[in-house]
Amino acid sequence: MALLTDIRLPAVQLAAVSKSYPSAAGAVPVLREVSLGFPQRALTAVMGPSGSGKTTLLNCAAGLDKPDSGKVLLGDTDLAKCGERELTVVRRSRIGFVFQQFNLLPMLTAYENVALPLRLQRGRVKRDRVREALRQVGLEDKADRRPAQLSGGQQQRVAIARTLVAEPEIVFADEPTGSLDRRSGRQIMELLRDSVDRVGSTVVMVTHDPAAAACADRVVFLSDGKVVGRLDHPTAEAVAQQLSLWER
Ligand SMILES: Nc1ncnc2c1ncn2[C@@H]1O[C@H](COP(=O)(O)OP(=O)(O)O)[C@@H](O)[C@H]1O
Ligand SMILES: [Mg+2]
Repeated sequence: MALLTDIRLPAVQLAAVSKSYPSAAGAVPVLREVSLGFPQRALTAVMGPSGSGKTTLLNCAAGLDKPDSGKVLLGDTDLAKCGERELTVVRRSRIGFVFQQFNLLPMLTAYENVALPLRLQRGRVKRDRVREALRQVGLEDKADRRPAQLSGGQQQRVAIARTLVAEPEIVFADEPTGSLDRRSGRQIMELLRDSVDRVGSTVVMVTHDPAAAACADRVVFLSDGKVVGRLDHPTAEAVAQQLSLWER
């Protein structure tokens, strides 16, 4: 397993990131001065109770949402300083996102869904690269199927291929196994692990499952908008034990 020293540069670095949402009773803080780096070529799991701010954290780190204050650095690009147009380019070319509900386009085949990021980058779509991404997730024989003709696990594998084809600097996955059965969930975890180990991807993944978190190099625990713990080289037992501490 990869060695995780703090010397390794983070792909994304958050510094004192705060975010709150307005409510009738006033602003409700969701992230409270979160400072955190996601190491390159590693799989980081983010865990915490429902409502603790995990999705908001990922969205801020991926430039899908803007913090109220603090810094988000992607490499040496400060996302807070990017205008909307620049941010769109960054999101398309440097960041990947995998959603719990797959978010594939229903009218497009698996092949066309995977080719889409390359199309959006206005480059020529290299057929070999799309095929290779589908092969990487074990679906080269399903290239012509539409999402409705695929199982949930297969759809999520297409979504991962669509992310990997653009070779992003970092992939964020928000509960990627959350709507899958155990077996498909395990396949997705193996894929993400494999892409870190073999291709050198950087992946940050939200999960509730200690077994999934145990595939990570590092687990970060979030509670009430704050980082409350960290575990390197986790085992499922150690993760479950931490959760029982923080979720009490
Ligand atoms: N767009 C929004 N408007 C208002 N409140 C929000 C919005 N997004 C999230 N929240 C609130 O922020 C808190 C954290 O949400 P979220 O980041 O989705 O947590 P998690 O992913 O850990 O369940 C929750 O209390 C949620 O209700
Ligand atoms: Mg969430």
